[in-house]
Amino acid sequence: MQKDDILRLFHDPNLLPSEKQILLSNIAVQAASLGFPCYVVGGFVRDLLLRRPVNDLDVIVEGDAIQLGKALVKKFGGKLTRHDAFHTAIWRLPSTFDLRPSTLDLITARKETYERPGALPTVTPATIDDDLLRRDFTINAMAVRLDGDHFGELLDPLDGRSDLEQGRIRVLHPRSFVDDPTRIFRAVRYEGRYSFAIELSTLERIDPESLKALSSLSGERLRHELDLILVEKNAVQILLRVASVGVLDAIHPRFPAFNPDDAEFLEMDNGLDIPADRVEMGYMLWFMQLSEDEVFSVARRLDFTNELTLSVWAAAQLKRSLPHLVESQPSVWTYALEKLPLLSIYAVYLVSREKALLDYLSIWRHIKPHTTGDDLIARGLPPGPRYGEILTRLRAAWLDGEVKDKEQELQLLDSMI
Ligand code: CTP
Repeated sequence: MQKDDILRLFHDPNLLPSEKQILLSNIAVQAASLGFPCYVVGGFVRDLLLRRPVNDLDVIVEGDAIQLGKALVKKFGGKLTRHDAFHTAIWRLPSTFDLRPSTLDLITARKETYERPGALPTVTPATIDDDLLRRDFTINAMAVRLDGDHFGELLDPLDGRSDLEQGRIRVLHPRSFVDDPTRIFRAVRYEGRYSFAIELSTLERIDPESLKALSSLSGERLRHELDLILVEKNAVQILLRVASVGVLDAIHPRFPAFNPDDAEFLEMDNGLDIPADRVEMGYMLWFMQLSEDEVFSVARRLDFTNELTLSVWAAAQLKRSLPHLVESQPSVWTYALEKLPLLSIYAVYLVSREKALLDYLSIWRHIKPHTTGDDLIARGLPPGPRYGEILTRLRAAWLDGEVKDKEQELQLLDSMI
């Protein structure tokens, strides 16, 4: 690809907003004045060449990213956080750049070695070619140079461009998945996102050895990868593919497959004043049919937060208890549902279409009697457990249509004290 073609993509505001173009050219000028070749790499180049809007700015410096960061802060302001061991710096951008996210990673080109499969790598400074050669897939191993007259030059030592054109996901070396088994998730994620295909010899590397390495990944790293899948547009298709290449069995013996019929529910806007969370909803839909023990076991393996464990557990419990609740009075439903997270109830509604759940979410949960504890004090009732009983009874009467106005509520109250 010609330099001019790349420059045209770079200057297309639909792909790269002008604020980001300005930021990158400022960085390029500083890098050139320090004599450091400077590049954008990875997903930036991949998405730019695919003519998709670019999200992350992955900036790599051949030289010293920390020194570049210091020069940028001196010239433009903001704040620098250094990570000396990794030769990287995070530049908190001054407000003049008006960008989201408001930080930028500045990274020194590096080599990585892995002490053992699945471990985090040891990092040493290196050339841009070394840096590209340590990456996951050819389509992510391209760079565009930014500094001085080199602006717009494409570095593509592994012919990532032709894999990009052919829609192929290809690892750079046979042990890539053993070194970093999270790349198995990444391969499937790109496949689903771009409608690409994992190239055959790469697919064959998802073998017992790499799956064994994957099974020793920490819960936190596994969950991070699954979270990233759940926010993808084609999340369910990707999860099914993850299952078909043997990944789920390698993580946990009781991992169910995601039910494709539930895919549409991930997109659902509840319109009910319940904070929506696609990832949380994804896990609930995925694990709702598990037994209580299985839910806890999967939650432990994926290092779920207590809150997420509770949501999934509540959805599974509620789904199981639906047959006992059908035909119940609204008050019975309400008291059964009241302690459960709203999103769990909504998830069970989506899969069951049980109308009472929607009535609870939209109407019943908001129904309260007029009478309050203060009113009971004013009536001279001695404080104690009886207060709760009376208020609960009044609320149930409203919920079940036994009282329909304030007067009827007061009559019922009179009959109780
Ligand atoms: N990378 C890698 N191996 C990994 C993770 C990342 O080689 N396990 C490299 C890839 O070159 C990738 C870059 O680091 O392009 C940045 O990683 P990340 O931000 O996770 O991915 P993106 O390419 O930005 O892709 P996405 O759009 O999915 O975020």
